[in-house]
Amino acid sequence: MPVTGGEFRFALRHLAAGVTVVTTRDQDGNPSGLTASAFTSVSLEPPLVLVCVDRASVSHPALETHGWFAVNVLARHQEALSRRFADSGSDKFTGVAYREGRAGLPLLEGVVATLECRLVDRHQAGDHTIFVGQVEGATAPGGHPLVYFQGAYHQIRQLGEMGQIGASA
Ligand SMILES: Cc1cc2nc3c(=O)[nH]c(=O)nc-3n(C[C@H](O)[C@H](O)[C@H](O)COP(=O)(O)O)c2cc1C
Repeated sequence: MPVTGGEFRFALRHLAAGVTVVTTRDQDGNPSGLTASAFTSVSLEPPLVLVCVDRASVSHPALETHGWFAVNVLARHQEALSRRFADSGSDKFTGVAYREGRAGLPLLEGVVATLECRLVDRHQAGDHTIFVGQVEGATAPGGHPLVYFQGAYHQIRQLGEMGQIGASA
């Protein structure tokens, strides 16, 4: 017997997550995208990542058909961008600074990292689709990431100027 939706959501509120905007192009060539935190790396060799997207979202068909998607990892000052891309079906790109990447992918400016991914696999999982991408391009200007935790946006304040916590061995 599965837990209720409320129990499920309450437990997952306790997972601190980075915030990404996943972008692509729709069949008319228009930029498309949504805010997504259900993102993770999958494999090093080959370099694979996945993102889980609600099949009811307006962006879903574009992700299915374009064959490429970009993962834009938001910086701490980009909460407004996260809110904008979480607003279903709205005109999300007007006034947003972006450049074109591989396959015309919209790459957002000011992010801490960008991954350009070629769609290599997809899996239906409940009401979401797991899109698996091979990473064909990666840049990471760095900086402080935006974090989502317990239904609110947060910043990691302990980060040093170089974006690292303490020293690494
Ligand atoms: C912080 C945050 C994380 C989210 N993560 C996801 C996610 O991983 N997958 C998803 O399908 N929707 C996620 N959403 C919800 C979508 O952004 C939202 O449903 C959006 O309206 C979809 O846009 P669209 O319908 O225009 O494609 C998230 C929303 C927020 C605020």
